[in-house]
Formats: sequence, C-alpha cells, structure tokens
Amino acid sequence: MPRHLLSAADLGVDAITTLLDTATQMQDVQGRTVKKLPALRGRTVVNLFFEDSTRTRSSFEIAGKWLSADVINISAKGSSASKGESLRDTVRTVAAMGVDAIVIRHAASGAAHQVAGWVDAQVINAGDGMHEHPTQALLDAFTLRQRLGNLAGKHVAIVGDVTHSRVARSNLHTLTALGATVTLVAPPTLMPSGAAAWAERDGFTLSGDLDAVLPEVDALMMLRVQRERMSGGYFPTPREYTIGYGLTRDRLRTLLAANPDAVICHPGPMNRGLEIAADAADGAQSLVLDQVSAGVAVRMSVLYHLLASGEGSAA
Ligand code: NCD
Repeated sequence: MPRHLLSAADLGVDAITTLLDTATQMQDVQGRTVKKLPALRGRTVVNLFFEDSTRTRSSFEIAGKWLSADVINISAKGSSASKGESLRDTVRTVAAMGVDAIVIRHAASGAAHQVAGWVDAQVINAGDGMHEHPTQALLDAFTLRQRLGNLAGKHVAIVGDVTHSRVARSNLHTLTALGATVTLVAPPTLMPSGAAAWAERDGFTLSGDLDAVLPEVDALMMLRVQRERMSGGYFPTPREYTIGYGLTRDRLRTLLAANPDAVICHPGPMNRGLEIAADAADGAQSLVLDQVSAGVAVRMSVLYHLLASGEGSAA
C-alpha cells in the first residue's frame, strides 16, 4: 500500500483488491446500530476542501468518525485561503498542528502531489482538478463488483465529458487493472487530446457513437457535464448534447433490451435531463445510491490501510 493515496495509477491489482475486500468488511459496520470501530482512536484527519462537495467530504467525515478518528473540516470559503494565503502556507499551517492525514480537494491538477511534498502528514487525494479522484474509482469498482461479480471481462462504457473528468481518469486505471473491458464514449470536443495513444497503451477503446456501444455493455458510467470547467462552447446546445450523448429514456430501453442485467452509475451530482434522464437515474438498474453508500465503506478501508494498519505508514 502506498503511503499516500494520490492517484489510482499508483495502485496495482493487489492493492485495489485488498482495499475493496476490506471495504466489504467495513460495510458490515454501516448496517449496525452502533457504527464505531476503535482503529483510528487518537488519530486526526483534516478534510481540506477548496472545491464544493456534498458526498465526498461528508463520506470522508463519516468514514473517519466511524473509525474513531478526530475529523476536522476546512473549506476554502471561511478559511484564510479566501484572504489570499497560498496553498503551501495553508497546508503547512494545518500540518503544524500535528494532524496525521490531510484529505484534499483542489481545483488544480497535481495539488495533492504537491501537498504530499510539503508536509509529513499522509495525503489522500479527494479530487485534483481534471486529474484524479482515486476514492471515487475505488467506490465505483466496489459497487460494480458487488452487482456484477468479478469485473474481468465485463464491459464498462464511461460516457460524456471525459476531458474534464478526474472520475474517468481514475476509473480507467482501476477498471483496466481489474481486467474490465473499457470504452470511453465522448463527443470529439470532450475527448481529451492524447486519448488515442493512452487507449493503445492501456488497452481500452474510444468511441464517438453511444448508440453503437450501448447494446454491448454490462455497465454504463455516465459523467456529469462539468460546465464549471468549460471556458468555451464544447457542444452547440444542451439539447444537442442530450440527443448525442445523454442516457435518455429511449437509450435506457435499448440498453435493457440488449442486456436486462446492465447497470448504470453516475458519480453525482447529476444534471438530470442533460446527461441522464430521471428514468435511468431512479430505475432498478441505477446504482447511484449504492455508490454513495459504498463511498463510506471504501473511504473507511482507505483510511484504515493508510493510517491504522501500519502498511502505509513507513515513508
Ligand atoms: C465528482 C467530482 O467531484 O469529481 N463528484 C464526486 O466526487 N462525487 C464528479 C463530478 O463532480 O462530476
């Protein structure tokens, strides 16, 4: 297990499997009346969030608390970052208080890597710009594995705004490591430049045609259209995006006609009516809330392996 969790690319199949297996045990705690394990008693975890978040921040907080850690939340709004303090000064200030781990979300790709170089605390990347979001990929793999069984040979299509998606990048690493067949589906404007070379190297495929891919998949992972990261016109109108790449009611019908056991994921927050129709988001094949619930178990597992078991604590 690495000392920090900065990137899903740092995790091999053994580490991923260990993290998912421990998450299965952690999920038992979620079903109990008394949800508390003593593993991180006396340890302090700081959630340092410079971008908005509902599920990631709160699930890291719940995960830490259920493991008996002291958890502190700092968000950019309300911190000295809004007074112009640099990221380096903010994290060194927090670390100087003696915290054991910093969970960081930041709009700059590479922020978590930088932070790991500035402090002695262990660092967990909770999303750095358009780069990576490793715990999201782990919780996605956990949810898919729970529903579909072993992911080797299962076909997962990741659909939508790939260019701006740290979720897609982290998922590519974990899903290919677990042996899944992955297809990235995006309009040409939202497919990252360099994707073809990456696809060739890591053995996944690219497509611009959702309707052609739809009947072949075991799972669809829909991505949010990240308008806050878009500076120009990546598609003519929202309606045209939906016509080309949205999981509409008609596409849901096609998907389930071809494979009645196919499942649908979305990391949230969803743009209902844009990339995903309500029928797809709320139907029996939707794993959206299973993903949220898995998020707590997976983050407990990550905190446990990095902080408690001693595996990740050697420099
Ligand atoms: C994702 C994120 O922030 O990268 N959300 C999340 O963590 N659940 C995806 C997104 O914002 O679209």
